[in-house]
Amino acid sequence: MISLKSLGLVVIFLVAGCNCNSTSSDNNELDVCEIDTELTCKNLTRGTNCGCVSKGTKAKCCHFKLNLVADYLYNNCGFNELTALYFFNCSSLSQPSISQLDLSPILKKYPNLQTLAFTNSDYNMIKVDPKVGNISNVRCLNVSYNSLDNSTDVANVINSIPSLQLIDVSNNNLSHAPNISGRSDFSLHIANNEFLNCDGIKEQMLENIKFVHPDQTLCRKFVTITQWSKEDTVSLNLSSIASTIMIHKQCPPKCSCSESRIVTEKGENNQNQVSNIAVAVNCSYRHLTKMPESLPTYTTTLDVSHNNITSLNLNGLKPDSNYDKLNYINANYNEIKTLQTLEGSEFLKAFEYLSLKGNQISKVSKSIPSLGH
Ligand SMILES: *[C@@H]1O[C@H](CO)[C@@H](O)[C@H](O)[C@H]1NC(C)=O
Ligand SMILES: *[C@@H]1O[C@H](CO)[C@@H](O)[C@H](O)[C@H]1NC(C)=O
Ligand SMILES: *[C@@H]1O[C@H](CO)[C@@H](O)[C@H](O)[C@H]1NC(C)=O
Ligand SMILES: *[C@@H]1O[C@H](CO)[C@@H](O)[C@H](O)[C@H]1NC(C)=O
Ligand SMILES: *[C@@H]1O[C@H](CO)[C@@H](O)[C@H](O)[C@H]1NC(C)=O
Ligand SMILES: *[C@@H]1O[C@H](CO)[C@@H](O)[C@H](O)[C@H]1NC(C)=O
Ligand SMILES: *[C@@H]1O[C@H](CO)[C@@H](O)[C@H](O)[C@H]1NC(C)=O
Ligand SMILES: *[C@@H]1O[C@H](CO)[C@@H](O)[C@H](O)[C@H]1NC(C)=O
Ligand SMILES: *[C@@H]1O[C@H](CO)[C@@H](O)[C@H](O)[C@H]1NC(C)=O
Ligand SMILES: *[C@@H]1O[C@H](CO)[C@@H](O)[C@H](O)[C@H]1NC(C)=O
Ligand SMILES: *[C@@H]1O[C@H](CO)[C@@H](O)[C@H](O)[C@H]1NC(C)=O
Repeated sequence: MISLKSLGLVVIFLVAGCNCNSTSSDNNELDVCEIDTELTCKNLTRGTNCGCVSKGTKAKCCHFKLNLVADYLYNNCGFNELTALYFFNCSSLSQPSISQLDLSPILKKYPNLQTLAFTNSDYNMIKVDPKVGNISNVRCLNVSYNSLDNSTDVANVINSIPSLQLIDVSNNNLSHAPNISGRSDFSLHIANNEFLNCDGIKEQMLENIKFVHPDQTLCRKFVTITQWSKEDTVSLNLSSIASTIMIHKQCPPKCSCSESRIVTEKGENNQNQVSNIAVAVNCSYRHLTKMPESLPTYTTTLDVSHNNITSLNLNGLKPDSNYDKLNYINANYNEIKTLQTLEGSEFLKAFEYLSLKGNQISKVSKSIPSLGH
């Protein structure tokens, strides 16, 4: 069956008349990073005498120690015009230290570059002179798979290159997300930085910074585990941080919704545990006559006490109603007459708390034995 949503997308593509064949709308932001796949370095030692391969205005250099990178490319390789330049596992001997990379000489020599990549190397630090970055046209900077640490001021690199639309700093050792303000629709790929702290990420999302692959990007959050009042670090997935931005939009009418606690679900083999931010929904004293139709993502606690609800129907809910994580319901002081509507629901299988004081329940079916506790 074709949903209205997909029909809408088709219409938009037709009207725009674009050749969107190979690009899924989710990954459009990554396109600026694409380097011709025909540019492989396999023939490196044969083809050219400079150690890099090129096709048109795109060039790629691999496994190479380059001296005076920019001049070398220009003089020895004869690359006098480049729009895409990719260094794979190269380091530059001209740098003061092999782990520092100043992008300025290349940006200066090749002002028409749109894509620049230095990946799979050992750089700790990258920097760029803002005067040079200012005249650059680079849209994608890929510095993934290095050892970038907090000596790199990623925000400063981004702010120094106004044309930049995407930076890939994934697979490094960054401990903080850069604070990029005033650059909405900027894309940041920061997955696989083991010590990345969650602080500030939500604020960046609110600034419209797009995090590439959010559900594969983890960050660390320090929490106090109340039972043992000890500090611990949990891993959060950026999708769960993004969903907290939606809490207020998803909140049922008349109710109030808030982040309540961090929940860690036991993963397979207890490995790579990823936590979630649980939501509490409070609809008490709101004159409700039925249960809310849907709840915010990852709602675990629902207070519907002191209303006029006549049925606690937890069956036949819509798939996106987000009742699936709910384990606490306070439905005291309503007009509920029967518990038959609870029978067979997912809630009954794993709930922790259900309170129904002050209702009009006259009998409890034998098929709900767990209600004893
Ligand atoms: C879409 O892709 C198919 C094959 O992958 C190709 O034959 C066709 O020409 C493409 N169309 C456009 C508009 O790029
Ligand atoms: C950046 O380079 C890495 C390593 O080659 C590659 O896997 C990744 O897809 C590139 N990033 C983007 C956004 O294209
Ligand atoms: C690489 O070498 C293969 C055969 O060894 C050849 O067919 C191909 O054209 C070469 N590619 C480049 C870019 O030189
Ligand atoms: C990078 O190049 C060095 C040699 O300069 C090599 O030992 C290493 O395996 C290469 N790394 C990758 C990821 O290809
Ligand atoms: C960059 O250029 C703009 C004008 O195009 C100018 O206002 C700004 O001061 C420049 N910034 C730097 C750091 O040179
Ligand atoms: C970078 O990290 C190191 C160790 O993790 C820390 O000592 C240092 O203060 C940090 N520097 C900055 C600028 O955050
Ligand atoms: C990565 O950063 C963490 C702290 O930010 C530090 O403890 C660790 O040694 C770093 N790892 C590498 C390989 O540099
Ligand atoms: C990010 O930068 C902006 C502007 O420089 C500042 O107002 C804001 O407080 C910063 N945010 C964080 C989390 O440091
Ligand atoms: C990240 O969170 C989303 C939604 O909470 C979930 O669908 C996804 O599986 C999670 N990813 C990982 C790697 O745990
Ligand atoms: C819900 O709000 C009411 C006041 O409106 C408060 O008395 C009650 O404790 C709240 N419930 C929860 C679970 O926090
Ligand atoms: C709703 O319940 C309150 C008591 O909680 C009661 O006073 C009121 O009459 C009820 N309203 C309706 C329309 O049943």
